Amino acid sequence: MATGEALDIIRQAEQFVQEELFGEASGHDWWHIERVRNTALDIAEKEHADTLVCELAALLHDIADEKLNESKEAGLDKVRSWLNGHTANTGLIEQVMEIISTMSYNGGQNPPMKTLEGEVVQDADRLDALGAIGIARTFAYSGAKGRIIHDPGLSHEVLAQEDYRSSSKTAIYHFYEKLLKLKDLMNTSYARELAEQRHAFMELYLQQFYSEWKIREVPDT
Ligand code: ADP
Ligand code: NI
Repeated sequence: MATGEALDIIRQAEQFVQEELFGEASGHDWWHIERVRNTALDIAEKEHADTLVCELAALLHDIADEKLNESKEAGLDKVRSWLNGHTANTGLIEQVMEIISTMSYNGGQNPPMKTLEGEVVQDADRLDALGAIGIARTFAYSGAKGRIIHDPGLSHEVLAQEDYRSSSKTAIYHFYEKLLKLKDLMNTSYARELAEQRHAFMELYLQQFYSEWKIREVPDT
């Protein structure tokens, strides 16, 4: 694709995403997208990945989020129709669709990403769930769902039971359910380095949190 054409589609994607996610208050706002795009470009450069594919997939990745659409299919259809209306490059469309449709966490159950570009974008999205920003997003998401911060009366064994209503999960529980597992799931070595720093900060945060609450028996991380 010519450079001018590539710049055009990136600019149009930015505008589309800003309009779609403006005011989204559960951690998927435009600035999440902007951070993921910038991190994806940094990793792409280090890994020699295709920057157009990474940037476009990063910009569009949350348009298809299940939580923001009636269904996963409806979300993916929205991205595909946007791409069809903005480029004739079917190879690019397929690469971006493949990444967006397979990159979500899904309890860590999804198969590995098929392309280097997919690995880069997945790492960038996961990095934004870690560290100081990840902590802020977790509490914002949890608050948006009407959940409480922490309940020391609920053991992690109870919370982990399948039949425990997920709507009652606390923000702190989300660290154990997902955030603290992410550093070992990074695809690229640069992302792993960043993830380790952010992971250490979250552990420190949890120690301070429990000490202020005067909780002595803390879960293993
Ligand atoms: P992403 O947009 O990065 O793919 P998600 O859609 O899973 O990730 O989540 C968006 C943000 O909300 C993340 O920072 C994530 O940690 C947080 N989040 C998701 N599920 C929960 C939950 N059950 N409790 C608290 N925070 C959550
Ligand atoms: Ni995201």
